[in-house]
Amino acid sequence: MGKVALLNEQASKVHHWHPMAAPKLAELASPLVIERAEGVYIYDSEGKRYLDSQGGLWCVNVGHGRKEVKEAINVQLEKLPYYTTFGDTSNQPVMELAERLTRLAATEDMQRAFFGSGGSDAVETALKLSRQYWKLSGEAQRTKFISLKQGYHGVHFGGTSIGGQMHLRSMYEPVLPHCFQIDTPWLYRNPYSDDPEELGKICANLLEREIVHQGPHTVAAFIAEPVQGSGGVIVPPDNYWSLIREVCDKYGVLLIADEVVTGFGRSGSMFGSRGWGVKPDIMCLAKGINSGFVPLGATVVNERVRSAWDSDHPLAAILHGFTYSGHPLACAAANAALQIVEDEDLPGNAGKVGSYCLTKLKETVSDFDFVGDIRGKGLMMAIELVSDKTSKTPFMPGDPFLKFIQQTSREEGLFIRNLGTTLIISPPLVFTEQDVDALVDMLARTFDKAASEFAKP
Ligand SMILES: Cc1ncc(COP(=O)(O)O)c(C=O)c1O
Repeated sequence: MGKVALLNEQASKVHHWHPMAAPKLAELASPLVIERAEGVYIYDSEGKRYLDSQGGLWCVNVGHGRKEVKEAINVQLEKLPYYTTFGDTSNQPVMELAERLTRLAATEDMQRAFFGSGGSDAVETALKLSRQYWKLSGEAQRTKFISLKQGYHGVHFGGTSIGGQMHLRSMYEPVLPHCFQIDTPWLYRNPYSDDPEELGKICANLLEREIVHQGPHTVAAFIAEPVQGSGGVIVPPDNYWSLIREVCDKYGVLLIADEVVTGFGRSGSMFGSRGWGVKPDIMCLAKGINSGFVPLGATVVNERVRSAWDSDHPLAAILHGFTYSGHPLACAAANAALQIVEDEDLPGNAGKVGSYCLTKLKETVSDFDFVGDIRGKGLMMAIELVSDKTSKTPFMPGDPFLKFIQQTSREEGLFIRNLGTTLIISPPLVFTEQDVDALVDMLARTFDKAASEFAKP
């Protein structure tokens, strides 16, 4: 092992607290140091190559190391690495990006973009702007947020409070008041119906019941991911989102789509909402916005929301902003990355290669005893692992089976994300059918080994 790798390992154990990891366990193990990346592959410090079926963290949509993006960052670095966009100052890349985002989201009638440094910022901005929207519109009592169980909206206090994964919030409670979660339309696990259409109706009705229960005059917005990502790639029934839009319209509630994962092609259309034919009032964007080259997030709003700031109210300003709002390097990277998304029709590729992958996974691995469900849309897929297929019993966190799958897949050369009891597949959107074949082969070999290792007597 080289000196740098040794230093990194030591630093990671001693000085670095990793996100979403237990420091005590991290200190026992050596970190896997990723040294470089290219296309759909990452390489560790020992030179071992892995197929990156995670796309980093659902974000490297144009593939690793794209020279067009690196060049755009370098050009901007030479001109202006940083300046604030507070007040009346701006820079070329952010102006270009704001125009580009509203053009890309023209189908959704998006009119204005506000920038932060990632998905959590985008969500926080959406929540604050929606409360301000109601104050400017003369309905100051509308402060409540409704969201979905299993939903994930980042880690700021707003996102944590509307988040629907209890293990991610319980240690940080009390969370913010006025945040409520309703059941998600999850076909594999729900107490209501096995029929997708019926489930869609029931779950949309749950939103209506919650709005009525809270009092419509108190509800600011409903927020959800078009396809739930970190909750386990939960794909709602086809009728769900249009029914949700109807319910929101009936009670005047704002509809916020958290497109941090689904934005820019991942689910097979430019935006996840577009895949369901629905127009939200606000969309939260990050990740694929510049494929992870430089941290960036954006919140875009439609005409209904924008026009509230035409008000004569003395506080009709955006009283919110980050030092790095409209960061020139991040925005330059986004302009280059989104040009690739358009030029190479990556949403189209995600749809085509994603459905090939889903079919192939179902054909190849669904018969394993521990595979409970395989689901997905575009290039976001999940394989839910269960300790008992009939009762759909999930593996407990820390079960040696899950660790075995992670270790063995890495030995095979596959980087796949274990999220609790679910394996997540979210590769770069430049993935090809050959990449899918390689992925499925490595996964099938991993599952064969797991089946022998954990064979029931
Ligand atoms: C749907 C969704 N919203 C928000 C976030 C938070 O984004 P970030 O980690 O960039 O703050 C994530 C991150 O995975 C996400 O999946």
